Amino acid sequence: MAQKTEALLPIMTGQAVIPVIVLEDAADAVPLARALAAGGLPAIEITLRTAAALDGIARVAAEVPEAIVGAGTILNAAQFAEAAAAGAKFIVSPGLTPELVEAADASPVPLLPGAVTSSEIMAALEDGYSLLKFFPAEQAGGAAYLKSLSSPFGGVGFCPTGGISAANAGDYLSLSNVICVGGSWVAPKDAVRDGSWERISELARGASLLNG
Ligand code: 3PG
Repeated sequence: MAQKTEALLPIMTGQAVIPVIVLEDAADAVPLARALAAGGLPAIEITLRTAAALDGIARVAAEVPEAIVGAGTILNAAQFAEAAAAGAKFIVSPGLTPELVEAADASPVPLLPGAVTSSEIMAALEDGYSLLKFFPAEQAGGAAYLKSLSSPFGGVGFCPTGGISAANAGDYLSLSNVICVGGSWVAPKDAVRDGSWERISELARGASLLNG
């Protein structure tokens, strides 16, 4: 089996920055998704790190047609199934396991799995995955490390996340093997808590001007 690139690639090439969201209150999901889409970032990743995440994904899928809601931090097949059932249009994982490959094979929802080392990348390629998340990007070696991977792994396209901000996103996006970046800086916790949707739209507008 192989990665569902025809479903995943348009999402990754559609915007240079995919917001990574840690949702504390499901009621924030709809106005947040609307604010990000209004700022030019329709595709968002809601991480399954909080109790509110699945409800938030379901609300965005049902109420924000302009958004493309994905689920992040998916660690196993059960979470894959829950996120897909909630309406996630894409699934993101920090890694890749045989269980996740099986879940993705059985689902129409595309998976963006993570890999950092050469052996992890080679294992992902053996499973048919050439679009990969690179996490935690800054801590794992940053743009310099990722650039070095382009020689042996020319056919692999990455979405680095972890420690990326408006200040360093350009360093990653200028690399030939980077398709887009992910980051939480466009949806700061305090702005979400305070309902500062216009501020979030502004941050999204700035990020949407970066070139992928
Ligand atoms: C992720 O899951 O992709 C990261 O936690 C996002 O990292 P950031 O909060 O440093 O942007």
